[in-house]
Amino acid sequence: MRTKITIVGAGNVGGTTAQRLAEKEVGDIVLVDVAEGMPQGKSLDVLEAGPIYGYDGDLTGTNSYDETGGSAICVITAGRARKPGMARSDLLENNAKVIKSVVKDLVERSPDTILLVVSNPLDAMVYTAYKTCGFPKERVIGMAGVLDTARFATFVARELKVSVENVQATLIGGHSSPLPLARYTTVAGVPITELLPKDTIDALTKRTIGGGAEIVNLLKTGSAYVAPSAAITEMVVAILRDKKKILPSTVLCQGEYGLNDIFIGVPAKLGSKGVEGIIELHLTDEENKALQNSAEGVRAECAEVNGIIK
Ligand code: LAC
Repeated sequence: MRTKITIVGAGNVGGTTAQRLAEKEVGDIVLVDVAEGMPQGKSLDVLEAGPIYGYDGDLTGTNSYDETGGSAICVITAGRARKPGMARSDLLENNAKVIKSVVKDLVERSPDTILLVVSNPLDAMVYTAYKTCGFPKERVIGMAGVLDTARFATFVARELKVSVENVQATLIGGHSSPLPLARYTTVAGVPITELLPKDTIDALTKRTIGGGAEIVNLLKTGSAYVAPSAAITEMVVAILRDKKKILPSTVLCQGEYGLNDIFIGVPAKLGSKGVEGIIELHLTDEENKALQNSAEGVRAECAEVNGIIK
């Protein structure tokens, strides 16, 4: 039997993720959504590109969770996305209820799976999944840092007119208040603090923090999905291929960075067991203060979640 990957939510993020994962041939894919016809149609469309792109593998579109049983990994993209003028937190009440129900349906059928949460507000939704599933912390992960880091890397590469492949960006913190770390962001090994003036780095940092909203405001009908699905794919491949790849991931901190019992973005080693370690960077007082501020915002959202899913 091939590895089974479930994707919940056949919207732009879920549908594009199905396509990217099919192209990677990392397993058979089950795409679930409540909208009748949508997951079936998107799955069939991806299948029919197989002969042209040259990939094999099965894709099933369904409105039921029965086909998801035995999944190695479940990617949760369900819930509403932002429209212009909305903060990620505006989605909290609706999406917390959706995530709770989705997670129950998934874990009943795949008790050994790894949950990769993508829905917003991200950090609070990963917490919702964790509170619902009863899994060890290693098997509950959120996708945000890979996306935010890619945004920062894009802006750095364009500013310096170098290949994005030369940029190794580092970023921590919650998805609503990510903290790009210039000292740990390098271009061909050289920290950008040696390559760019502070005000330029500050401007790139600010653009990165507002990166999701920038796209929402341009699209007007929804949020980003091309870069988000690329980020999900990198994490899923790292896990399924047991790559032990260090990626910025939303994971449960228990003492790391002086943070306790909070899901927030930190560099984590991803492999077949899920989160296989957290890397602790040395932070300056200023960086640490910014991280603690970011954590305060996440804690406030999680307190709201507690009231909604109890
Ligand atoms: C973004 C949304 C998906 O950052 O949170 O684009």
